[in-house]
Amino acid sequence: MTEERSRVSGILPCPVVILTVAAKERRDAMTATAFYVSEDPPLLSVSVAEHLLTRDLIDQAGEFVVNVATGEQLDMVEHLGSTHGRDVDKLAAFGVTTEPSESLAAPRVAGCYASLECRVMASHKVDGYRVYTAEVVAHSVTEGRSPLLWHQGRFFVLGPLVERGS
Ligand SMILES: Cc1cc2nc3c(=O)[nH]c(=O)nc-3n(C[C@H](O)[C@H](O)[C@H](O)COP(=O)(O)O)c2cc1C
Repeated sequence: MTEERSRVSGILPCPVVILTVAAKERRDAMTATAFYVSEDPPLLSVSVAEHLLTRDLIDQAGEFVVNVATGEQLDMVEHLGSTHGRDVDKLAAFGVTTEPSESLAAPRVAGCYASLECRVMASHKVDGYRVYTAEVVAHSVTEGRSPLLWHQGRFFVLGPLVERGS
């Protein structure tokens, strides 16, 4: 891909999320982005590169947790987004604190803005990625924390509310 084309993906601001997944004796966590597909039922999509351990484990488990990161978690986000679970147990290596999920085997990441427990409904392969559409079957949100965003290759925290008519 040319540099010009690769910059196009940076135009859309995206939430920064940590995907957690567990299958059989393996577990993994990776940084990703996500977007919603439908409000009712609550559906979202994530895209995971085909060669990643996370992709193997999601295919085995049929489920994953989307943990919406905060600005305080930036170091962890960068570590989980630049190392591979095939080489190391990333949750242990980076001291990631986890909590049990309500409905899934994969854990939630503590300290996030929100955790969305997802069951895969459909997936398809596109240009080296596996795109999953999943239903949120349980969730938690901590008010007072702000979601971390990814835009033009940089990290931002969600800004102030814009009032209608102002
Ligand atoms: C901000 C950010 C967003 C990312 N988004 C994605 C993504 O949506 N899909 C993807 O496959 N990789 C994405 N990555 C890269 C993965 O996190 C990275 O390849 C990771 O090492 C994969 O982990 P694993 O090998 O343990 O599965 C992102 C990285 C960062 C820093």
